[in-house]
Amino acid sequence: MPNRKSRPQKRRRRSIIAFEMIRLDRTATEPLHEQLYRQIRDELKSGRFGDGSSRLPSSRTLATDRGVSRSTVRLALSKLHAEGYLRSKPGSGTFVANLLPETFLTADRPKTYQPIERPIRISDRVRAIPDGRVGDQFDLGATGAGPGVSLLASIPAVDEFPIAVWERLRTQVLAKKGVNLLRYSSNRGDVDLRKAIAAYLCDFRAAHCHPDQIVIVAGMQQAMLISAMAVLNPGEVAWIEDPCYQQTRRVLSLAGVKIIPKPIDNQGIVIERSPKEPLPRMIYVTPSHQFPLGVTMSFQRRTALLDFARAHNAFVFEDDYDAEFRFVGPPLQSLQGIDNASRVIYAGTVSKILCPGLRLGYIVAPEQLIDSFVKIRSAMDQHSSPIDQATLARFITEGFFLSHIKRMRKIYAERRDFFIKQFNELLGDRFSLQVPEAGLNIVAWLKREEDFPMIKRITFDIGVRPSALSFFCIQAKLKPALVFGFAAWTPTQIRESLVKLASALRSRGNDLNHGRQSR
Ligand SMILES: Cc1ncc(COP(=O)(O)O)c(C=O)c1O
Repeated sequence: MPNRKSRPQKRRRRSIIAFEMIRLDRTATEPLHEQLYRQIRDELKSGRFGDGSSRLPSSRTLATDRGVSRSTVRLALSKLHAEGYLRSKPGSGTFVANLLPETFLTADRPKTYQPIERPIRISDRVRAIPDGRVGDQFDLGATGAGPGVSLLASIPAVDEFPIAVWERLRTQVLAKKGVNLLRYSSNRGDVDLRKAIAAYLCDFRAAHCHPDQIVIVAGMQQAMLISAMAVLNPGEVAWIEDPCYQQTRRVLSLAGVKIIPKPIDNQGIVIERSPKEPLPRMIYVTPSHQFPLGVTMSFQRRTALLDFARAHNAFVFEDDYDAEFRFVGPPLQSLQGIDNASRVIYAGTVSKILCPGLRLGYIVAPEQLIDSFVKIRSAMDQHSSPIDQATLARFITEGFFLSHIKRMRKIYAERRDFFIKQFNELLGDRFSLQVPEAGLNIVAWLKREEDFPMIKRITFDIGVRPSALSFFCIQAKLKPALVFGFAAWTPTQIRESLVKLASALRSRGNDLNHGRQSR
């Protein structure tokens, strides 16, 4: 029998209400305990503490904080108890009642805000962001990247992240640099991190850069926003790939840029333009592994793109979000590495290599743009967390970064092969996979286009959540396809999900098809 007494007691932390806003008037005729009772009651009635977990301070603390006697406090609290505003939990303290007396008197929850009589005015900037989501749909934590075997695209295996190593390095950098990491710090980013990233990019992405060209940012989106704001005036043109990473469109719209979608062929972005089409100031591309189609940009197209940019005084934004995960052939040089005219703004992120929660990325800026980028970053949010930056610098210089990439490449290669084999076996009658050379996603083209609505409905119902390729399209009219992620799940989980999808398609798909035919 386990010894109950010796087991450490787990105590749930509760938030303690401070009642900082209470003001007692000693000159008033109303007794102090009445004033205290009334003001506490009014705060509780405001509805801000209504989840039953808010605890009151002890009567001693309340008396000291408000400068009154404990008996005054006790009188006020006992009245609140008697009226049902408070409940006592022996050994734990006094809590706000789960249901306040007002709940029984009014049918509705007490309103905590005044209804707005006229619709509020929203800026054109918000309206211009091409994004139909509302309310909770914006909460990426709740909608996109949560646990569960969703086969959602672009999710890395965060459970493989070496948390213990990270924690040890973080403790070490805090011990070494102490309060220096708690101050405002460089808008360019931690100098050790910039050195480490420059060395990594020169070595592994064949980039040509020095640490002063690096600006540490809060991920790829911020890299895009800073770049667009630095090189384009509102209304000027940026070309983006079509289909494209959906956030690119949103971010560039936020910067007030006019977006021209450019199609993708089997070599990458199509550069040809009609004579009437305005020239771009910036061209966004994912050359290592086009998102979402997976095309690797050919060498020919790379040089043509750089020539075009040079000829028309444009910049190329190279989003190198997951080049580390290349499974076929030798590593490819970055576009930045073959640019000898300072036309490429190169950007990377740790979102796929390590984890998205860190919100860290980097720009390699052409020298003439560095100051403008830093100026915008300082006006935006100053810099990323110095503690995380210093920890990442250590993580890279001590070799953990490379060993993590190597380990993850192996895990992802195994998961990818497994996914392809299982998918073809279980679902090959309905889809053909387009297997890319790199990356964490795979496009599955439907063999019968008319099945698309039925398949979409079934995937939604069973909680498997590949994205429709059309979600990433702007003008492109592509055949129906789904974009699957495979990286975040073990082979067993992948198989379970694919079996579930295959059997749902078999049973419900047949029913739905029958229904359609007999209608
Ligand atoms: C093309 C592309 N770029 C960048 C990212 C990551 O951006 P961030 O660094 O803002 O997380 C993603 C994520 O899915 C992506 O698909």
